[in-house]
Amino acid sequence: MKEKNLMVVVTGGVSGMGRKVVDMLVAQRHNVIFSARDAALGEDVARTLNGGSHVPRAHSIPCDLSSFASIREFANEISRRTSSIDILINNAGVMEHEAKESVDGIELDAAVNYFAPFLLTHLLLSLFRRGPSARIVNVTSTMHREGHLDLASFGDISSFNRYRSYADSKLALMFFTRSLAEKISVDQINAIAVHPGVIGTDMTMKNVARMNPIARIVFSHTIRSSKYGAQNIVDAALSPAYNGRSGIYIEEKRVTEPSQFVLDSRLATDLYSKSARVVGIAA
Ligand SMILES: NC(=O)c1ccc[n+]([C@@H]2O[C@H](COP(=O)([O-])OP(=O)(O)OC[C@H]3O[C@@H](n4cnc5c(N)ncnc54)[C@H](OP(=O)(O)O)[C@@H]3O)[C@@H](O)[C@H]2O)c1
Repeated sequence: MKEKNLMVVVTGGVSGMGRKVVDMLVAQRHNVIFSARDAALGEDVARTLNGGSHVPRAHSIPCDLSSFASIREFANEISRRTSSIDILINNAGVMEHEAKESVDGIELDAAVNYFAPFLLTHLLLSLFRRGPSARIVNVTSTMHREGHLDLASFGDISSFNRYRSYADSKLALMFFTRSLAEKISVDQINAIAVHPGVIGTDMTMKNVARMNPIARIVFSHTIRSSKYGAQNIVDAALSPAYNGRSGIYIEEKRVTEPSQFVLDSRLATDLYSKSARVVGIAA
């Protein structure tokens, strides 16, 4: 895929890897709409990237992905600004250290890392310019392998556990990637899950700060730069090597098998139905 001028939607474009992803896409002359929790910060990023250009390529739209209403407004605003999109990168994510609930009453890791991409993807599906360039990239984590996904309690704040809730949300995103690949033909849209690497962003560094000194030293050696992680996400979105390979999971740069849990087709169907019910869309 060597096209320019693709229309790419990226969640979480103001900070972390998402910011670098937006930079890289704009540098490659693609058009990017990105979400920003803080509208003013989003406008600053867009202004910086567009400079004085008479063809602005970076566009910020406010969105709080922990609110279904805000996600719906974001999708509506995207459809007002463009008639078609080529790529959606569900990048934004959280790893909460304490139990927190979204405005919709969902544990925050589950809300932002899973239910938000589930809803946003469905709201944007009709805008996709279907074809070989069309991709949905879900930024997951190798930590999905630690997830177990008990459907009855998934998203319930009373079952919060610092690592497990994050792992479950990323496992759910793996299921969603596979479900999309089954529902949408590969010649229309490819759904890809990517683990970008262990990256030294805020999310990781807050975690490292809580480790004991020995673990901190050992773990610190595995940390890579935001640029490295962002490049892996951009490759998942643009590389022709993944054309027609919907449903794959890329760990850093290698296509690999996800957790065996993801093969449970009954759980996949039940998760999909529950998710549609929770976010309020037709299954
Ligand atoms: N870092 C790693 O080692 C690693 C490894 C595997 C997977 N990942 C995944 O990579 C993705 C990016 O993470 P990162 O490492 O770049 O972390 P980060 O630096 O903490 O950035 C998180 C991003 O998510 C956005 N975000 C968080 N909550 C949001 C909300 N309620 N509404 C809208 N946006 C929200 C943030 O926006 P603000 O700018 O408004 O804060 C920020 O852009 C995440 O999905 C993460 O799970 C990271």
